[in-house]
Amino acid sequence: MKKAYLFVLLVAAIAMTGCRQSTRVSSPDKTIELSFCLHDQVPYYSVIKDGRQVLGTSRMGFDDHKYTMVSLRSSSKNELWETTWGEERIIKNNYRELQVTLRDEQNELMVVRFRVFNDGIGFRYEFPGEGGSFEICNENTEYCFTDDPEVWTIPWRTPYYEGLWEKCPMTALRDTVCSPVTIEYSNGSYAFLHEAALDDWAAQNFYVADGAEPSVFPVLGTYLTPWSTGVSVYGERGKTKSSWRMLILADNITELAASRLMLNLNEPCKIEDTSWIQPMKFIGIWWAIHLDHYSWCYRLLDEKGNVIGLAPKHGATTENMKRYIDFAAGHGFGGVLAEGWNEGWDGDWTSNLASFTTPTPDFDIEYLSRYAKERGVQIIGHHETGGNIQNYEQQLDSALSYYDRLGIHNVKTGYVHAKLEGKEWHKSQYGVRHMNHVIRTAAANHVCIDNHECVMPTGLCRTYPNLMTGEGVRGQEWDAWSTDGGSPAQHLCVLPFTRCMAGPVDFTPGTFDFSNPIHPETRVHSTLARQLALFVTVYSPLQMASDMPESYMQHPEAFRFIEQVPCDWEQSHVLDAKIGEYVVTARQDRHSSDWYLGAITNEEEREVSVDLSFLDKNKNYTAEIYRDDSQTDWQQNPYKIVIEKRTLTASDTLTLTLKAAGGAAVRFTEL
Ligand code: NOJ
Repeated sequence: MKKAYLFVLLVAAIAMTGCRQSTRVSSPDKTIELSFCLHDQVPYYSVIKDGRQVLGTSRMGFDDHKYTMVSLRSSSKNELWETTWGEERIIKNNYRELQVTLRDEQNELMVVRFRVFNDGIGFRYEFPGEGGSFEICNENTEYCFTDDPEVWTIPWRTPYYEGLWEKCPMTALRDTVCSPVTIEYSNGSYAFLHEAALDDWAAQNFYVADGAEPSVFPVLGTYLTPWSTGVSVYGERGKTKSSWRMLILADNITELAASRLMLNLNEPCKIEDTSWIQPMKFIGIWWAIHLDHYSWCYRLLDEKGNVIGLAPKHGATTENMKRYIDFAAGHGFGGVLAEGWNEGWDGDWTSNLASFTTPTPDFDIEYLSRYAKERGVQIIGHHETGGNIQNYEQQLDSALSYYDRLGIHNVKTGYVHAKLEGKEWHKSQYGVRHMNHVIRTAAANHVCIDNHECVMPTGLCRTYPNLMTGEGVRGQEWDAWSTDGGSPAQHLCVLPFTRCMAGPVDFTPGTFDFSNPIHPETRVHSTLARQLALFVTVYSPLQMASDMPESYMQHPEAFRFIEQVPCDWEQSHVLDAKIGEYVVTARQDRHSSDWYLGAITNEEEREVSVDLSFLDKNKNYTAEIYRDDSQTDWQQNPYKIVIEKRTLTASDTLTLTLKAAGGAAVRFTEL
C-alpha cells in the first residue's frame, strides 16, 4: 500500500547548485540525492550520488515559460510486484517522491513529479486542469554532466534504430542521438539515460547543448521528435503527462543490467486476466525470405503494375506452412510465423494498401489454423502496414477479430517506410499514439504484439504485458542482405547494455546455416555455439529462432539447446561484461530449478572464468556445455562445436574459451 503523507515544505536548504534555495529528496538508502529549485522563475534540478555530483544544476520546463512555486508534497513507496513475464519474477519498487506544483505566467499549473530510487532517478511533467489544449515545441530538460564520460549512441535519424551503436566521449557527440544513451565513467561506474512510460508524448533525443569545447563539461539537451507541423506535443490539460525522464546510476556493469527502474516507473498491469499471455519460442517462414530463398509476394507484376504471372517461390503456402508447423510441434516451439500470407505484397509492398483479412489463394488459413491447433502450435500473425497507418487503423478491429476467430493470439506488426503516412516520424507523438492504440486494441482482443519498426520501448510492457517484444534494433536479418557484410561480432556485446536495456528485443538469434548464396559477401558473424548463447544473452519472451527446419536438422545435437532453453525467467544476472567486448549472463528458468548461461565475445578470442556461486549451494548440477572447439573459426570452420557434460557445484569456477565471434551456452540441471 502506498504510504503517502502530505506536507507543505518550507525547506530552505542552501544548495550547492547555484540556486539560493532548494528542496531535496533522497533515495531510500540515502546514496542518491536530488535537489530542485526555481531560479529567476526557471526550474532546475541536480543529482548527487555517494557525495559526488553526477548532474549539476540542470534546466527544466518548456518553451519560454516562467514558473512560480505553488506547493511541494512528498511521499514514498516500498513494494514488491510480480511480472507477468520477464527477466525476473519479483521486482522491488522502492522510492521517495517529491511532487512540485508550479504555475506559469498564463496561470496554468504544471506538476514535476520526481522519484528517487536506490538505483537512479526519474521525473515527469504533468499538466493538471480541466480540459483545454496546449502545444509544446521545445522541452528544456537538460542534463549537466560534471565529467566527460564515454557514451554509446546511435544518431537520431537512424531508420528504425537499426544502426551499430558507437562509443565516443560525450563532448565528441556531433549529431543529435536517440534515447537511450549508455554512459561509461572512467571509474568503472555506469549510467543509462532514457525515458519510461512513453504513452502520449514524443520520443526524446539528445544533443550536446553546451560543452563541445575542451574544458567545459557537456550538457545534454532534449530534442523531442516533432510532428510534420513542427509542434512536438499536442496536449490536453488534465490528461497529458510526459514520459518519465530517467537516469539509472550503477556502480558496475552487473548493477546496470539489474536495474528495473524503467519498469518501476511504468504503471502496474492494466490487464486483469493475463492467463492468455504466454511467452514462447517460435519459428517462421521468414529467414528464407530474407535470403531470397522464398518471396513475400504471390504474384509477379511488370513495371506498370500489371500481373504477369505467379511468383515462382512464394513462401507462405499451405504446404510449406504445414511443414513448419510439423517441425515446430516436434521440437518444442509454440508458434510459427508466416510472412506474405495476405494480399498486399505484390510489387512495392511498402506503398500497397494491404488487406489484413484476405489470405493469398495458396494459403488456406482456416485449414492451417485448425491443423496448428491440433498439434498444439499457434500461428503467429503478421501485419505489415508499410507505414500506411490509416489503412491499418481502418482495418484494426476486423483484422484482430479475424485472427481471434482463427485462434491467432500473437501478431508481428511492421511499419517499413521512412515516415508514417509518408510524413510523420515513427517516434513522433503521432507514431507513439498509433503504436499504443494498437497495443490497447490488441489487449482488448487477447492479442500479443511483436512490434517491428517500433518506437524505442520504454517499459509499457509492465502496464500492457501483451506488448511482448519489438525490434528497434539492427537484428540478425541484416546478416542476410546488408551490403556491409553483416553486423560485426561486437554488436551483440553492445546491445545488452543499450537497446536491450529498453526492453525485450526480437533479434532473431539461432541461425544454423551461415551460407548466403545470393549475397556471399554477407553473413552472420558467428560460430554455431555463439548462436546458442544468444538465447541467453538477448532477452525476449517471444523468442524467434531464425533459421529453417532443414538448417536445424543439419546440427541436431546443437539444436537440443534451442529446444530446451526457456524464454521466461525467475531471475537474471549479468555476471561479467565489458560493453562491446564480451558478456556473460546467467538466468534461472521461471518454471524449474534449471539455470542457463550464455557467454559471447567480440572479434577477439578470450577466456572467461565464470564463478558459479549463483547456483544453489546445496545441490550438484549436470552442466551440458556447448562451446567453441580449439579448431572453431567463425569464417573457416564455424560449425565446429564441443558438446560435453560435467558435474559442477556453486563452489566451482567454469573456464570457457570463446573463439573470435564465438560463445558458449550451458544448461545446468539438478543432479
Ligand atoms: C522488416 C522486419 O524487421 C522484418 O522482420 C520483416 O520480415 C519485414 N519488415 C517485412 O515485414
